Amino acid sequence: MTPRPPKPPARPDKVSLWRYVQLFRKDILSAQPARLYRAWMAEFRTPFFRSFLLNQPDLVRTVLKDRPDDFPKSNRISEGLRPLLGNSVFLTNGEVWKRQRRIIDPAFEGGRLKETFPAMRAAAEAAVERLKGQAGEVEIEAVTSHVAADVIFRTLFSIPIEHAVAAEVFARFRDYQRSQPILNLAAFVPVPAWMPRFFRRGTRQNAARIRDLITRLTDERAAAIGAGTAPQDLATKIMTTKDPETGETFTTEEMVDQVAIFFLAGHETSASALAWTLYLMAIYPEWQEKIAEEAAALEDDSFAVVSRLKISRDVFREALRLYPPVPMMVREATCPEQFRDRDVPKGSQLVLSPWHLHRHERLWDNPDGFDPARWGTENGKACQREAYMPFSAGARVCTGAGFAMVEGPLILSMLLRHYRVAPVEGREPVPVAHLTVRAKDGIWLRLEPRNYTAD
Ligand code: HEM
Repeated sequence: MTPRPPKPPARPDKVSLWRYVQLFRKDILSAQPARLYRAWMAEFRTPFFRSFLLNQPDLVRTVLKDRPDDFPKSNRISEGLRPLLGNSVFLTNGEVWKRQRRIIDPAFEGGRLKETFPAMRAAAEAAVERLKGQAGEVEIEAVTSHVAADVIFRTLFSIPIEHAVAAEVFARFRDYQRSQPILNLAAFVPVPAWMPRFFRRGTRQNAARIRDLITRLTDERAAAIGAGTAPQDLATKIMTTKDPETGETFTTEEMVDQVAIFFLAGHETSASALAWTLYLMAIYPEWQEKIAEEAAALEDDSFAVVSRLKISRDVFREALRLYPPVPMMVREATCPEQFRDRDVPKGSQLVLSPWHLHRHERLWDNPDGFDPARWGTENGKACQREAYMPFSAGARVCTGAGFAMVEGPLILSMLLRHYRVAPVEGREPVPVAHLTVRAKDGIWLRLEPRNYTAD
């Protein structure tokens, strides 16, 4: 029998509000009813505010692409992250956000990716090295988190993950996520906006320590830029870019906020995507073999190799469809709207759900199946335009989308060039959404070195 990619169970259609909150606290994916995979729009009524999930492509377009200024990010989602991320581009709105993007975006433009590539490749090679001697059963999310964190430190600050500051930041971020795990919780659970939120003591302390460490890196870099000795990496690029409208650069404080989000948004997401992709490769070995074969192209260590990793890219894209690392996003209506003849009052929370849109039964052929060849079909192409948004869309699209689409296929290809992965019996992962889509008890794979000796 062909295996199916794991999908969390849906809850029954009707549950009490209290039950919903309980389910939600456990996991936002299994707290939703199955009808959301067919609905164009759904409403969650709570005593304090109204929340609408939008699955209809033209409504999603209205919110994200056509009128983004009318639908800013909802402050309800940011509370858990504020102590760590301060005023980072992920949380801000309006003019502050626009200014931040003007300074950040040039560092992620196409040409820059080419300059970043050697650091990404070095991180991928280091991951292969670390796995040597680790054959057998491996929890792969830990492996992919490690390599994705390494990519971020190398590309941003030209330091590998073994660097003392990088290693401590990485470890502390992990703890932060454990203590403050659910990004979107407040947008769904019916607590009024004025109710104070409590952070565990350790959470704030941890955030403060992470920010101290990042401040140290940023200060050192500012000094190196002043002395003309700074490496040409992403940090230097961002710290020396002037806002074209005002001529200002980021202050140290602002840069610390941005580094924190690059680290969080850049490594958690890629780690999640890579782990699920590797699991899919374990249960679809025919695709795994295709990638391993294609990986011979990696003999070429120039940036040009990226365009030759086509199968790896299609597979990674399909994994992002089935397991979008950011499963839901929340915006707020700043004026009353009429969507599908329904009144959407001012202040409503609008939930855009890559998780549901990517598996929508009325849009996709074989929505729950794994089929990387779909991207070459008419339905796949249409859905890629209309119903695919792992990186969001419009003005607030992920700054790292291009970066991630180079990093993911590269690391996938590099790992499968050296190792074969197989599922571990009795350990089928169950997707749950915390900060990103993860597996309930990790993703376990059996790892076996390939007889590969060409290095
Ligand atoms: C597979 C990997 C990734 C996925 C799936 C992903 C997904 C997303 C999504 C869905 C958003 C929008 C969130 C929202 O609007 O609520 C976002 C925003 C963002 N991402 Fe990514 N991301 C990935 C990798 C990266 C990387 C590698 C970086 C940076 C190095 C990055 C930096 C950011 C930043 C700065 C934002 C905020 C943009 C803004 O609000 O203007 N991401 N990402």
